[in-house]
Order: sequence, then C-alpha cells, then structure tokens
Amino acid sequence: MGTNLDGHVAVVTGSAMGMGKVTAKELANRGASVACWDIVGDKAIETAEEIKAAGQKAIAIQVDVTGMNQVQQAAKQTVEALGTVDILVNVAGASLGAPPGLDDLTEEDWDAVVSLNMRASFLTAKTFAQDMKKKGWGRIVNISSGAGRSNSRSRVIPYAAAKAGLLGLTRQLAVDLAPHGVNVNAIAPGAIATLPNAAWKKLPADQQRDALLTIPAGRFGESEEIAGAIAFLVSDDASYVIGQTLCVDGGHWMF
Ligand SMILES: NC(=O)c1ccc[n+]([C@@H]2O[C@H](COP(=O)([O-])OP(=O)(O)OC[C@H]3O[C@@H](n4cnc5c(N)ncnc54)[C@H](O)[C@@H]3O)[C@@H](O)[C@H]2O)c1
Repeated sequence: MGTNLDGHVAVVTGSAMGMGKVTAKELANRGASVACWDIVGDKAIETAEEIKAAGQKAIAIQVDVTGMNQVQQAAKQTVEALGTVDILVNVAGASLGAPPGLDDLTEEDWDAVVSLNMRASFLTAKTFAQDMKKKGWGRIVNISSGAGRSNSRSRVIPYAAAKAGLLGLTRQLAVDLAPHGVNVNAIAPGAIATLPNAAWKKLPADQQRDALLTIPAGRFGESEEIAGAIAFLVSDDASYVIGQTLCVDGGHWMF
C-alpha cells in the first residue's frame, strides 16, 4: 500500500500546460517515470525538462491523441525510452472554441470535441491495456468534468456529451479490466482557477460571481488539488477503488 510510484511508468496526455503539467510533475515527484504527451510539443518538452531538472526520468512526445496511428507511434517511443507503461492519465481535453447552445453548433464542432474528449481516451486505453493486463497491475484515470456529471456552465453541448460519455467509457473499461488488476476511474474537476484556458474564465464577471456562489468551498480549485486526487487513484492505496468518478470541485456537485 502507499502512494509511492517508484518503478512505475506513466503517460500523461495534455501535459504541456494546466492540470496535465502539474499532474506529470506530481507523479514524477512520487517516483514515476513520466512521458509527457501533448499536441503542443515545445511546451511538453518544458514539462519534461522541469521533471528531469528535479532528478526524475521524463520524455516529451508531440502527439495528437485523436489519431490511432499517432497514439501507437507515441506509445512505441515511450516504451523504448522508459519501459512498459502501467499508468495512463487522460487529461487532454477542451471545448475547442465550439459555440454555446445548439443553433450555431456544426457537425464539425461535434466531431472534433467528441473525438478529443471521449474517443481519444478509448484510443490510449486500447493501446496500453494489453501490457497492463500482462503485468497484472495498471491504472487508468480519465479526466471528465462536472459538465459530464450534470451540465456545462459554458453550455457547450458536445463537451458535456463527451465528458458524460467518458464516464460511461470509464465504468465499462473498469468492468473489463478489473479482473486483470487494472483499475479505471475518473475525476470530474469543477472550476479550476489557475488555468489560462479554463472555460469559466470566458464567462462575464457576474456569471463568474454567480458560479462561485454555487461552490461550498467558496473558491475555485487549483491544479495541484486535481493532481493530488489523480496521484491517489493511480497508487496502491486505491487498490479497491474501481469505476468511480471522484468529483474534485469544492462541493459543487454532491450526488
Ligand atoms: N479548467 C477547468 O476548469 C476544467 C474543469 C473541468 C474539466 N476540465 C478538464 O480537465 C482537463 C484539463 O483541463 P485544463 O484546463 O488543464 O486544460 P488546458 O487547456 O490547460 O490543457 C489541455 C492540454 O491538452 C492538450 N491537447 C489539446 N488537444 C490535444 C490533442 N488533440 N492531443 C494532445 N494534446 C492535446 C493542450 O495542448 C493542453 O496542453 C481537460 O480534459 C478539461 O476538459 C477542466
């Protein structure tokens, strides 16, 4: 038992910035070797360099996680550099500028947002699950959203739909993989304050104030608070936590 990750190899998607970056550094702090995957290659390199400067092992790979060929190529590079992957954290996600509501939403918006926020986690899980099963130990954590548990404050329909679908994917993967020692869980972050791209930051000031009134903690969350929850879920301490969605949202949703 414990939360030490010595000897483990983790892939963190979306680790060029935001929660993914903080998570990659947190898992490395706890002993994991970390592959920092992101579509923004130079920023992913920065994350990996910061981890290496702190004395841990890391590599950066530029990859678009919505394409199976790229995912498989990135997986091959990761295994060659760090060894077999037994921890996968799917953080990459965004509403990609899709408009609020239905009227202006296009088929292209729908496909792009669903592909990134749901399909990509299927592609990465499919890529790494066999090795985890062979090892008899693995952890997959998918980053959903309060939007996937209830509704989206920014009213982006495919984002809410994909994040809800991601919770279904999490539960069904959990059923499939638990007999092999591979635990799959999800985290549903609330409004996270420190992130430059957070959708809530685009809301008008009065709506931001109203949003705060709905959070019992009375404040927005920090990336470190998401990373800490992820670090627990990928550890041995979470050995009997399977198929769950952990809301890390200051008490915004309680159900
Ligand atoms: N910020 C919030 O308040 C909030 C709330 C709930 C859920 N979330 C979810 O948490 C996760 C992290 O959010 P964040 O605010 O840190 O986002 P962010 O925009 O700061 O980081 C997302 C990262 O994903 C990368 N990415 C985007 N498309 C990619 C692709 N096709 N392939 C590879 N990488 C790609 C980006 O380059 C970026 O580095 C996302 O899944 C987001 O939907 C965020």
